[in-house]
Amino acid sequence: MLERLVYRSKGAGSIGNLSLFNLLSQARVRNAQLNITGHLIFDGEFFTQWIEGPSESLDALWSSLLKDQRHTEVMLISRVPAKERRFPLWTMAFSSYSSLNSYNIPGFFPVDKQSVTEEVKRLTDATD
Ligand SMILES: Cc1cc2nc3c(=O)[nH]c(=O)nc-3n(C[C@H](O)[C@H](O)[C@H](O)COP(=O)(O)O)c2cc1C
Repeated sequence: MLERLVYRSKGAGSIGNLSLFNLLSQARVRNAQLNITGHLIFDGEFFTQWIEGPSESLDALWSSLLKDQRHTEVMLISRVPAKERRFPLWTMAFSSYSSLNSYNIPGFFPVDKQSVTEEVKRLTDATD
């Protein structure tokens, strides 16, 4: 069954630009294997992530995320069945401030503070 999951977490104090992009590249490799797509937003302090894929894949990723020390205060916002994917083209799209855009990574969407707030709201308020 296709499901989607949204959570928020707090970046560990030590997380820097380069480790973020490493995290993202590795995440995309694993997501491709797990048939997971989604969107990660980082506002400099908090992560919001939308993950969609088969239930078993979500279970596997969720248990990895819960033990990952690169973030804390991991809080599940919603996990519900999904009719279709919202981010079918992205093994993990990533939005953050343009100051992070130094590694030329594909699927990085530089956004300003207001857009981050709006995107986070869109993901966390979604009911479908
Ligand atoms: C904010 C954040 C988002 C992450 N997103 C993903 C992801 O989308 N896919 C993924 O495979 N790993 C992601 N990871 C990394 C996982 O937590 C984990 O390290 C990785 O999947 C390897 O799992 P394992 O340690 O259980 O082998 C993310 C980590 C953090 C801190």
